[in-house]
Amino acid sequence: MDILTLDLPGIRKVASGKVREIFDLGEHLLFVATDRISAFDCILPNAIPRKGEVLTQLSDFWFGKMKFVENHLVAVDFAAFPEVLKPFEEQLRGRSMIVRKAKPLPVECVVRGYLIGSGWKDYQRTGAVCGIALPAGLQQAEKLPQTIFTPSTKAASGHDENIAWDECVRMCGESVATQARDLAIRIYEEGRAHAAGRGIILADTKFEFGILDGRVILIDEVMTPDSSRYWPAADYRVGISPPSFDKQFVRDYLETLDWDKTPPAPQLPADVVAKTAAKYLDAYERLTGLKL
Ligand SMILES: Nc1ncnc2c1ncn2[C@@H]1O[C@H](COP(=O)(O)OP(=O)(O)O)[C@@H](O)[C@H]1O
Ligand SMILES: [Mg+2]
Repeated sequence: MDILTLDLPGIRKVASGKVREIFDLGEHLLFVATDRISAFDCILPNAIPRKGEVLTQLSDFWFGKMKFVENHLVAVDFAAFPEVLKPFEEQLRGRSMIVRKAKPLPVECVVRGYLIGSGWKDYQRTGAVCGIALPAGLQQAEKLPQTIFTPSTKAASGHDENIAWDECVRMCGESVATQARDLAIRIYEEGRAHAAGRGIILADTKFEFGILDGRVILIDEVMTPDSSRYWPAADYRVGISPPSFDKQFVRDYLETLDWDKTPPAPQLPADVVAKTAAKYLDAYERLTGLKL
């Protein structure tokens, strides 16, 4: 069953993001990934079949692998969900998590191992990314000599803005910022090593951390195609922007239209939807070695 929007009678919705619907369960939150897809920061009108399931199950896979970091996960198996959610099995199963409530840090913890996207743009202009100086002469999509932490603000709407480390410290406090940075780099590097063994390059990714009982914990989604830039290793070449794993068909299609990238976004044709759904599934199966 495709899910674009979700309301659960009797259960209070606390937030609706670009992709997730979040409900209050008292002590915990119900964190539901819909099949919505966004491109150029706009939500598109189509559902991508099984996308919500892929995001949730892949996050669960990574939470399970990254035992060194405390995370928000309470339950992902529908059988372990509380009684009040039992009537909603059809909508929730596979795509939902019960999570602990944390206070999200006001920054997005972006980690980059390759020079691409806004990092490449920054570098061309300034020779640095988020104030981190890099060697001269690097090319687009080149692997960086070391992983860099390039936090950004969380824009309530529109595009996130890169910030310097000092600004991140001002916003989070030095101890919390340092913990989040060190954890983010370690999770990325372990994730990248795992992906490399499966023929996939993890170019960069974005984590969110939150505070729970004074501790820094990993929240939100983890190293999904939505929060990460994955490239098939076979298509990788320095000097070009390699095709990303998931949204390439969507972006390519939208670029052929005369659309100014502000809402409302146009409808996607069925073949673009089907190819995109296949890409998400493929990412899940290649990274985990499992069938969904
Ligand atoms: N354990 C948690 N406690 C509180 N808030 C969380 C938790 N995990 C994730 N969040 C928040 O839930 C939202 C996730 O919904 P999503 O659709 O991805 O939103 P966005 O469009 O902001 O990316 C984010 O704002 C994130 O900060
Ligand atoms: Mg999000």
